[in-house]
Amino acid sequence: MLFDVLTIFPDLFRSPLEEGILRKAREEGKIRIRLTDIRDFADDRHATTDDRPFGGGEGMVMKPEPLAAAVEKVREDGNAGRVILLTPQGRRYTQDVARELAAEESLVLVCGRYEGVDERFRASFCDDEISIGDYILTGGELAAMVLIDSVSRLLPGVLGCPDSAGKDTFSRSLLKHAQYTRPREFRGIGVPEVLLSGDHGEIERYRFIEAVRRTIERRPDLLARERFSREEWRLLKKQGMAGAVSAVTADSDDER
Ligand code: ADE
Repeated sequence: MLFDVLTIFPDLFRSPLEEGILRKAREEGKIRIRLTDIRDFADDRHATTDDRPFGGGEGMVMKPEPLAAAVEKVREDGNAGRVILLTPQGRRYTQDVARELAAEESLVLVCGRYEGVDERFRASFCDDEISIGDYILTGGELAAMVLIDSVSRLLPGVLGCPDSAGKDTFSRSLLKHAQYTRPREFRGIGVPEVLLSGDHGEIERYRFIEAVRRTIERRPDLLARERFSREEWRLLKKQGMAGAVSAVTADSDDER
């Protein structure tokens, strides 16, 4: 998958892209990331990419011409993909959006700065606008990195273990169960016996129940769209949790 990133701070991206899984994915050609410095498309000798807002007010607005020229250049260089503006005014980024984007061949990520980008650039060049959450960053760069990271790990062969992405929190709407590794005892605290039992069926059932318990406690809103199998309802009933689950999901075991 090809990502073109348009930014006035290309160096911000270097370290996140040069470590760990993203580095390996790049080396293996699973993802390709091209960084374009928007300043290279400014037409004055100071390489100005922002200016004061018409009508007055605080802050600076990114000028439309360098942004437009930068998008046109990546188009010429073969990226025909969706142009996404990272902005707090965009639609909310979720795992479903990550999955949607992972199905694309290429993307163009435009990192806004300052108080925003000129409306004419936004309206004429951007196909999509994404916000990574209800808070304000100093610019879209960190948001673009979040998007690249979360989309890349969904691509075939990027994670070492093919099933890892599928077992994630949010692959269904459940939080992940607690995890333990060695030592068996840490500062007087042990590990749930069942995880040491070697009984894979029992372990799966235990983890399912723990995932549901954690989701009810921390993010009951996520359960609203969850659907459970007949076997899962049976387990929930056995644990005395069916009532608590029914209270927050649209799903019910009566229909089966
Ligand atoms: N730019 C500034 N804040 C942002 C946010 N929350 N999401 C995406 N881009 C941003």
